[in-house]
Amino acid sequence: MACGFMVAIVHILHGKETGREVELRGWIYRTRSVGGKVFVVLRDATGILQVTVARDAVSPPAFEAIERALIESSVVVRGKVVEDKRAPGGFEVRASDARVVHYAEKFPIQEDLSEEFLLDVRHLWIRSQRMTTIFRVRHTVFEAVHEYFRGQGFWEAHPPMITPAGSEGGATLFGVDYFGRKAFLTQSWQLYAEALALAMEKVYYIAPSFRAEKSRTTRHLTEYWHAEMEEAWAGMEEVIRHAEAVISHACRRAAEERADEIVSLGRTPEFLKAVKPPFEWITYDEAIEILRKKGMEVEWGKDLRTLEERRLTEGKTKPIVVYRYPRVSQAFYKARDPKDPEYVLAFDVIGGDDVGEIVGGSERETDLETIRKALLEQGEDPKAYEWYLDSRRYGSVQHAGFGMGMERLIQWICKLDHIRDAVPFPRTPARFAP
Ligand code: 4AD
Ligand code: MG
Repeated sequence: MACGFMVAIVHILHGKETGREVELRGWIYRTRSVGGKVFVVLRDATGILQVTVARDAVSPPAFEAIERALIESSVVVRGKVVEDKRAPGGFEVRASDARVVHYAEKFPIQEDLSEEFLLDVRHLWIRSQRMTTIFRVRHTVFEAVHEYFRGQGFWEAHPPMITPAGSEGGATLFGVDYFGRKAFLTQSWQLYAEALALAMEKVYYIAPSFRAEKSRTTRHLTEYWHAEMEEAWAGMEEVIRHAEAVISHACRRAAEERADEIVSLGRTPEFLKAVKPPFEWITYDEAIEILRKKGMEVEWGKDLRTLEERRLTEGKTKPIVVYRYPRVSQAFYKARDPKDPEYVLAFDVIGGDDVGEIVGGSERETDLETIRKALLEQGEDPKAYEWYLDSRRYGSVQHAGFGMGMERLIQWICKLDHIRDAVPFPRTPARFAP
């Protein structure tokens, strides 16, 4: 086939190629043939477009090839772009030539398949319009988070993924056999970040964290991408402001750059553009009071559960901040509130639509003995944390940081029912394949 002018489908859909002779390559998304014409809906990485191949407009072998090709066959077509209200997206290409690059076998994904089956064939299901739409938003959200922190003078710094001890409690640690010794996959970069903050002052990174969390919920993965930041000479309030700002920045970038995707996922760009700081801040105690007024029985001191987060965020169009948690059941590194050491300077940013906690963070305790005692209380061996405690021995300063679940943020931005669709190949308690 003679070489034409190769274009992406999205450019045709934006009306930039109308009337021109173009060449397209992609995969057959749908195909049907009626009365000497094959209507092929073609997909490439940017969208889908109807291509009409008429028997009398192409060579007989080209027509026969296209007529025979099943969905997901890869093809190259050449033709003229015309506006046509009847075609999906309002444009179509009338083919003058077509070539099948590879004839697909019968594709296993047809209509009305179970969620479980779609997870079995995830490597094929990721070709769907819904999946690729979400992944394009994900691409933009990742870029926005990097852009925000770098723009604020944070250094990207990388901790190890294989660690001798966790920061978030032993219950969710994945063990690794390290040549006969026991090691763990990282739950959070936090302990390393605190050491790095005393060197680089403002640090951040985005990488996977691992949680051996058996909870089968719509918002837990066992492997998720974690955006974390740590800042020296900063307290809880300053890092909450960074959390509000980075979420808002990601929402704005998604609204500006991925408007079509956002609309097709059921949000509007206007909704996301309205996500601006400040968010509503309430203390943990105020949250408990609100919930009790709503008639819920909640035990003071316990972490907020899904149900409670749902009630706190109902009717809200922006995430909310809950801060100043009771010390009980909180991680050892959280700073005591100087006004009342039964509370810690910790916070969560909670999103609506059942996404729940998007960010968790705190100011860090600087007193060595307080940390040592808290470790013992939590059944940890302070010896395993000696290297970490050095950050309290050599020039300790006030510092604070947070972790943000990237899939939670994407789930919230894209209004997804389940977190697994925020990542191409989800890892959940029930499966780690394909
Ligand atoms: O609240 P977490 O456990 O906090 C920490 O790990 C701190 N060390 C972070 C820090 O201060 N540097 O986790 C932080 C965030 C949560 O708010 C949530 O968004 C996400 O990580 N997250 C998960 N996302 C998906 N699946 C899971 N199993 C998650 N567990 C936590
Ligand atoms: Mg948390």
